[in-house]
Amino acid sequence: MSSASVSGGGIKAYTPLYDEYDYPIEKVSGELPADLRGTLYRNGPGKMEAGGTKLGHLFDGDGMLSMFSMSEGAVHFRNRFIQTKHYQKSIISDAAPYRALGTMRPGGVLANALRFPANVANTGVVLHAGKLLALWEGGRPTRVDPDTLRTRGEYDFDGELKWLGAFSAHPKRDWDTGEMFNFGMAMAPVPKLICYRVDRAGKMKRLGSVRLPGPMFNHDVGLTKRYMVFVIPPLVFPLKKFFGAAFGLNNYIDAIEHHASLGTMIALVPRDGGKTRIIHTDPLLHLHLSNSYDDGEDVVVDLLNYHATWDQLNGQLSAVEDLLETSTMPYGGVPTRLRISPSGSVGIEEFSDRQGEFPMYNIKYMARPNRYTYLSAGLDGNVYPNGLVKIDNETEKETVYRFPDGFLPHEVVFAERPGATAEDDGWLLGPVLDGNANIANLSVFDARDIEAGPVYTGTLNHHLPLTFHGCYTPRVGRPH
Ligand SMILES: [Fe+2]
Repeated sequence: MSSASVSGGGIKAYTPLYDEYDYPIEKVSGELPADLRGTLYRNGPGKMEAGGTKLGHLFDGDGMLSMFSMSEGAVHFRNRFIQTKHYQKSIISDAAPYRALGTMRPGGVLANALRFPANVANTGVVLHAGKLLALWEGGRPTRVDPDTLRTRGEYDFDGELKWLGAFSAHPKRDWDTGEMFNFGMAMAPVPKLICYRVDRAGKMKRLGSVRLPGPMFNHDVGLTKRYMVFVIPPLVFPLKKFFGAAFGLNNYIDAIEHHASLGTMIALVPRDGGKTRIIHTDPLLHLHLSNSYDDGEDVVVDLLNYHATWDQLNGQLSAVEDLLETSTMPYGGVPTRLRISPSGSVGIEEFSDRQGEFPMYNIKYMARPNRYTYLSAGLDGNVYPNGLVKIDNETEKETVYRFPDGFLPHEVVFAERPGATAEDDGWLLGPVLDGNANIANLSVFDARDIEAGPVYTGTLNHHLPLTFHGCYTPRVGRPH
């Protein structure tokens, strides 16, 4: 771990942004491509405190949506907190008003027992069938107006999401059928992953479920033309700790342990409703999948596998204020490809030496083989992201853009050029935080040539704490 040599030097990645803005971006270098018309939405924790109490984990901050609306060569910025119950109480209470995944309420066991973590709507954002949904994996989506970002309330797909209504932050879309696939974790009474298919018009159907051997943590899902694909790392809630969390003795996130001896459980859930196949393979430690697809009879899944312990990774995710000073591991996981054969054998191969997070590709290639994979990378063992990497899966050639010292890129999102025929004919859009000046910008890269640096940089009038996930739509949001 000595390669984690570049210190943060006082850089803050998660300074709260309390103010809500609405303005055209005027400090610009380069040019916004004339045919880039659409909207980039971002979601992430806008503030890491509630009622004046510092929150215990990155996953706990109140969700704030940002919107970069692009047209006529100009960008309009708007941000709004999602008006969850947690957010609304957090700004008037004297202490943490609810439990969160990594934060306890004051008042000890009695104040925390049998209370579920609050839905802070902070993880992902998707636009499907005209509805913009802020996603949080432990509960229902929150519907938000795609123009004004005004919160419309929790959304349950016309009653199809039952009970807690967990709906993960990583839905996948088949661009040929217009369907969206996703899952929700259910911990009790039977631990399982409940699978959903949402048709082009937004109607949800339950597709079945994957029974788990016990309460576990799984963050992402893949999609091929035949299957929903789960690659479930051995991140388990040992029963004693699980009940300890439920009864208020410890927080939920610290109840997770990585039990390598269990290996990784792969579940292939047929999209047509057939019988699920379960396969076991070597233990992995990952949060995010990249693309997945069928290759003949094989299923291929790309993911970012950590060369670290769960304690190190969870520590990095818990060290909210001093992330950059206290991290004991380089940033990110290693691009790793799983090939699952019909016989149940699983080949595991690293397809790059880079380390990064937030894998991205041209999402029109979701569920089909993709040639290019993009990463927010920690170059040279850096403890925070400081580069953008493009991997050519055909030639294995890698191209790299290194941000200036102290600049932290968020996840980049691919926006296809209208009329494009080549897979990489489009742009990579991402906010970047200048951690020295604590000012953010929107950077736009030509995906065909990231080494050239951003073709457009529009500097905001303020910072933007690092966000988790975003989405792009060619629909131009009208903030007024
Ligand atoms: Fe995620």
